[in-house]
Order: sequence, then structure tokens, then C-alpha cells
Amino acid sequence: MRIVLVGPPGAGKGTQAAYLAKNLGIPHISTGDLFRANISQGTPLGLEAQSYMKAGQLVPDSVTIGMARDRMEQADAVNGFLLDGFPRNVAQAEALDEILKAGHVQLDAVLDLEVPEDEVVKRIAGRRICRNDSAHVFHVTYNAPKTEGVCDACGGELYQRDDDSEETVRRRLEVYHTETEPIIDYYRAQNLVETISALGKVDEVTAKAMTALKK
Ligand code: AP5
Ligand code: ZN
Repeated sequence: MRIVLVGPPGAGKGTQAAYLAKNLGIPHISTGDLFRANISQGTPLGLEAQSYMKAGQLVPDSVTIGMARDRMEQADAVNGFLLDGFPRNVAQAEALDEILKAGHVQLDAVLDLEVPEDEVVKRIAGRRICRNDSAHVFHVTYNAPKTEGVCDACGGELYQRDDDSEETVRRRLEVYHTETEPIIDYYRAQNLVETISALGKVDEVTAKAMTALKK
């Protein structure tokens, strides 16, 4: 299957993607995670992305589209993938269409996670991420690690993302409304969108998502 996951910052895209990718046997491709890995390795791509991310702005398409294409062309993505955080504007959605067309494949669904803004703010404020693996995501109250500041999965140190400050979150939400939401209409026109509420427990949201994807 080839799936795009869309939703505001803090909706739970990364959390759901980890379960859905495992259930569906396809790789989870997160452009945010790819940028953060480049930043921690100090690559030129990471250096370019860092200032945009810190400010809550989109990294330019000239950088992002090539990075996403390279990842989708890796061997493990031949039979499908779950895209998290890409595309993030209409130009990226058009570029993705071209990439899929060149590979003679199509998207199966666009899963749209709906969460009210006050919940998003609470989820982001309490989020903690593992330094060893960005798929290990916790929340200080909703999904607290057994030991404060320590990852349950691998013992790694938990940290708060640079772009999770209140001011940057507000900017990211604005960017979501102006730049990313239009892709939902773009994909509605292709009859691909499944909208679900991402409120409720993590496993309840995963169950709803699996049902929507089987339609
Ligand atoms: P990215 O990393 O994609 O961030 P985002 O879209 O802002 O999304 P988040 O990672 O903040 O949230 P999420 O929806 O994954 O939520 P999570 O599962 O962690 O992008 C970061 C930046 O990179 C962008 O701002 C941009 O600069 C750049 N970038 C990335 N892609 C780009 C692109 N294509 N083009 C240009 N620039 C790009 O959950 C949040 C918290 O809630 C966690 O603590 C979790 O434990 C908790 N939680 C999750 N589900 C539940 C639940 N059901 N109940 C209670 N708590 C829950
Ligand atoms: Zn960990």
C-alpha cells in the first residue's frame, strides 16, 4: 500500500505511523525524522534545514522533494510506504504525483487525522522523544515513561524538540492551515481522503485508521 498521512503538528502522525507501518508491513517515511537525522549527523542538508525547522517554517521544496524521492526509491519501499509529513504543500503533492507516475504506481489512500487545536497544543507541550530512535515517542502525562527522562524501549535519554516551544508551535499551526490543508482538497478531488478523529487512546485511533484504510 502507498499511504499519505496528514494532520496538524502534534496530531499523532508519528505515533500512529509507527503502528500502522508495522501492521501493514511497509516502511514509515517521515521527512521530519529524515531532517532531524541529518541535523544530528551535521550533514549539509541538515545544516540547511535546521534554521527553517527552528522557526517553524517549511524547508524549501528544492531540498525536501529530492530527499523524499531518494528515500522512496530505496529497496524497502518498492512495495509501498507510509508517508508522514510529506507532501506538505500542493507543489510537493504534484511532485509526488510525478514520482508515482514515473514508477507506474498510485496512492491507495490519504489518511487525514483531525484533532482540535487545544489538544494539539497539550500533546506537543508534553512530548518527549528518544535521542536514539525518533520512533520512541512519549508524553509526560498521556504516555509517560516508567522512569522520568528515560526511554522505556532502549534506555536512551528523552528530550524535547527545539521546535516545540509555544511560539514555534503557533507558527507551525499557521503554516499547516495556509500551506498543508490545501493538499486535502487536492486529494479529495482524487477521491483518496479518509478523515478520522485522532482523539481517544492511541490504540483506538490505530483501530479506526486500520478500518478506514481497509475501505
Ligand atoms: P515533523 O517532524 O513532520 O512535525 P509535525 O508535522 O509538526 O508533526 P509532529 O512531529 O510535531 O507531530 P505528530 O503528528 O507526529 O505527533 P506525535 O505522534 O509526535 O516536521 C517538523 C518540521 O520539519 C516542520 O515544521 C518543517 O520545518 C520540516 N519539514 C518536515 N517535513 C517537511 C516537508 N515535507 N516540507 C517542508 N518542511 C518539512 O504526537 C505528539 C504527542 O502526542 C506525543 O507526545 C505523543 O505521545 C502524544 N500522543 C499521540 N497520540 C496520542 C493520543 N491518541 N492520545 C494522547 N496523546 C497522544
Ligand atoms: Zn529509545
